[in-house]
Amino acid sequence: MDPVRNPFMPGAGSRPPELAGRAEIMASAEVALKRVLQGRNSQSQILLGLRGTGKTVLLNEIREMAEAEGYLTSFLESPENRPLIDMLYPAMLQTLRRLSMTQQARQASTRALRALRGFASAFRIKLGNVEIGVEPDPGVADSGQLEQDLPDMFEAIGRAAQAAGKGWVLLIDEVQYLQEEELSAVIVATHRIGQRNLPVMIFAGGLPQIAKLAGDAKSYAERLFIYPKLGALPPEAARDAIAKPIEAEGAQIDTGAVDAIIAQTHGYPFFLQEWGHHAWNCAEASPIGRHDVDAATQLARRRLDEGFFQVRFDRLTPAEVAYVVAMAQMGTGPYKVNDVAQALGKTAKALGPRRASIIRKGMIYAPAHGDVEFTVPLFDDFLRRTQTRKDTAS
Ligand SMILES: Nc1ncnc2c1ncn2[C@@H]1O[C@H](COP(=O)(O)OP(=O)(O)OP(=O)(O)O)[C@@H](O)[C@H]1O
Ligand SMILES: [Mg+2]
Repeated sequence: MDPVRNPFMPGAGSRPPELAGRAEIMASAEVALKRVLQGRNSQSQILLGLRGTGKTVLLNEIREMAEAEGYLTSFLESPENRPLIDMLYPAMLQTLRRLSMTQQARQASTRALRALRGFASAFRIKLGNVEIGVEPDPGVADSGQLEQDLPDMFEAIGRAAQAAGKGWVLLIDEVQYLQEEELSAVIVATHRIGQRNLPVMIFAGGLPQIAKLAGDAKSYAERLFIYPKLGALPPEAARDAIAKPIEAEGAQIDTGAVDAIIAQTHGYPFFLQEWGHHAWNCAEASPIGRHDVDAATQLARRRLDEGFFQVRFDRLTPAEVAYVVAMAQMGTGPYKVNDVAQALGKTAKALGPRRASIIRKGMIYAPAHGDVEFTVPLFDDFLRRTQTRKDTAS
């Protein structure tokens, strides 16, 4: 069918034609945003999910919703090997510049800008050509300890936002890449704005291990945030994700074809887009049938193997590859750390650093103590398909 009219959107963070199965999370975010703007308390949220489950897409939706409610928003993707403040500083500065344009918020914004000035020098942030034309406010946000200064900054921004009759939403994607002290600082800052009832909220997204990381960093983090889980879509939602966009283009898909897509993708959002995309292009005409999905499966597999899976695989060292292949050879996860060690003829302790490095790269995570699991859905399948074949061939 006409590829120009293909509605599917495979890709990182691309808004899907039908945001299926996420109504509950969106509704809870909406309630929280409305409450906080009215000076009522509500927990910030960290969306947790494997690769390709729609975290970035949802953060973008929440951002739009927040703007419609009257918040200023800042969207950061935490950089893998750079300090958070490199991105947070310009975001705070821009927010304050915007707030300072509101007459009633002038004074509070100036105060916050002075705090930011102190923050910038304490953390030696290069101001370049974005000078702040105010004097610092000694003793505010300038200790050089992120855990002390970030709460000061959030409070100052919160007061400025409140004076302007607005709020501030900070969205942080890929939050698992934050350093532990950065995460603690964000948690303490969130705690502070909650205690002061200021109109500031954090929405973050990350791989599942973050809930544990947050709990380790600060024990009260459990109560401070809620952690909506994004997983594979249940069959009804997966059906909507495929059928509705096709119908919106005035075409149809057979029930058997939808079932085949759900079986192949296990309902994972990214894979649904990929299969939908190829099924549309493979079909000669509407309705899209079972054989079109079979052809799409070939294409989608190849594209994923060469792209989505391969780029992640390429980040691993040979020793790390041996580790993940040992996992995959045991079937579907989660896997016992001890079993993986045994398969490699080593102790779990000796493999600790290797495991930690693969976790840091975001390829595996620990769903429970003593277990590991892949962060990329169907990655075990990919490894069995590509790596074990090579093993037996050589
Ligand atoms: N609710 C949904 N229904 C249908 N498709 C979706 C849904 N959510 C996301 N998608 C699609 O899934 C793909 C992945 O989305 P997104 O990039 O937001 O995932 P992610 O969880 O941020 O992944 P990563 O961890 O790799 O960053 C996109 O192609 C998007 O269009
Ligand atoms: Mg993402």
